[in-house]
Amino acid sequence: MEILRSLDAMREWRASLAPSQRVGFAPTMGNLHAGHIELINVIKQQSDVVVASIFVNPMQFGGNEDLDAYPRTLEADLAKLEASGTAAVFTPTTTDIYPDGVSQHTAVDVPGLTDVLCGASRPGHFRGVTTVVSKLLGIVRPHIAAFGAKDLQQVLVIKKMVRDLSINTEIEVVPTVRESDGLAMSSRNGYLSHDERALAPLFSRTLEETAKRVAESGSDIKTVIAEGEAILTEAGFVVDYLEARHTYDLSEASSLNQETALFGAAFLGTTRLIDNRIV
Ligand code: PAF
Repeated sequence: MEILRSLDAMREWRASLAPSQRVGFAPTMGNLHAGHIELINVIKQQSDVVVASIFVNPMQFGGNEDLDAYPRTLEADLAKLEASGTAAVFTPTTTDIYPDGVSQHTAVDVPGLTDVLCGASRPGHFRGVTTVVSKLLGIVRPHIAAFGAKDLQQVLVIKKMVRDLSINTEIEVVPTVRESDGLAMSSRNGYLSHDERALAPLFSRTLEETAKRVAESGSDIKTVIAEGEAILTEAGFVVDYLEARHTYDLSEASSLNQETALFGAAFLGTTRLIDNRIV
């Protein structure tokens, strides 16, 4: 596996590929778990050569968030990527990506979809995501790129960005990989204390059960969601949001005549968990 530690190394490697080779891409922030490896596995089936990136993107973290504490496990990540059959991994420096600093960098903003859910709770987060993803797609020039369905809002935002900016990359959405107790895999799960980890699956379970009840109840969505929220609050979660929204434009779902998902975010101690379930 090639380790491409600079922009120049990445560009050189990309230029060495034959035009007929279909390139698959899995962008990550490292601290890889089975969910990331699933991105590689899915993309591998649809391309001739797979490249991953590892870059903890400062632009998508708010001032009060966990940028400094974010787990960095490069050696272990490289071993996992190598074992998964990844051909190359791009590990740019912050200066490679933001040569004049984050605040002086051109930004990509996707309107509308980023005003709600995580966009409302984490101002500037999606601007950081879309800016870095547009850059990575421009540098790597993949035919197809994979993103996890756990971050469903992120997927919708990236799809819109790719469409609006006429970026020539197909976006593949990979189903959420879960622990055996149902908790969606996330690098942030590692922040949970022993007791919090034991409680965390209740979040995914409540989302799943609430989504089922929403599907059954039809018109009484708000009451069912309030009950789900109460279960989480009583158990010790601080719920950021629990909302049923249409998956095509994230508008509020007051009835279920269009494809709808239940989106949730909640703090357990200082750890923010997110998940979603299609209703
Ligand atoms: O989902 C992530 O890990 C990040 O948001 C991404 C897409 C790699 C951009 O930094």
